[in-house]
Amino acid sequence: MSDSHCNTTYLTQEEKEKYLRQRARAIWLTGYSGSGKSTIALGLERMLASNGYFTRVLDGDIIRTGINKNLGYSPDDRYENIRRIAEVNKLFIQTGIITINAFISPTHEIRALAKGIIGEPYFTEIYVDARLEECIRRDPKGLYKKAIEGKIKDFTGLDAPYEVPLHPDLVIHTEQLTEEQAVDLLFRFLIPKLKYE
Ligand code: ADX
Repeated sequence: MSDSHCNTTYLTQEEKEKYLRQRARAIWLTGYSGSGKSTIALGLERMLASNGYFTRVLDGDIIRTGINKNLGYSPDDRYENIRRIAEVNKLFIQTGIITINAFISPTHEIRALAKGIIGEPYFTEIYVDARLEECIRRDPKGLYKKAIEGKIKDFTGLDAPYEVPLHPDLVIHTEQLTEEQAVDLLFRFLIPKLKYE
């Protein structure tokens, strides 16, 4: 094999971004269970797809039934959950893919860990804001009811902490916006960062 036909270096992230005509970023949605993170993530993915962007959504339903099915909700397990998710993000980003994450990621430390692994320039933190009382009222999976009855321990907001992000890139108030408005707000905010120019 002649060297002139064979380039044995990795295709770079830049080369993959050029091919996909987009900038790869991790969109990191944090907030209480029931705040609307997954709904916004899925709506955003559809909106980006219809505008030509190539994405991957990661949320608890996917990650905690697969790669992280051996983890629970203790502080150590949540840390390991987010550490692995951040490493997965890094792989997607190196592949040129926009990754949309919906995880409670409850502490400053855990989110700083994710940002550190993914790399600050690629990490966009979005705080999905709904009051705990409203999330309890919504209770889409019936888990708050179980936690209040004492059937689930260490539940975020009840007997496990949630630390509100101090400097998120964007806050989405899901109590004041419709699903469509929330997705639209996020889409408009992200496009300048994702455009390949
Ligand atoms: S994180 O804290 O480690 O980031 P993650 O987002 O993966 O949490 O998972 C949260 C989801 O798991 C919730 O939306 C809820 O459906 C479910 N869940 C089950 N037990 C708990 C718990 N003790 N605390 C929070 N969420 C829980």
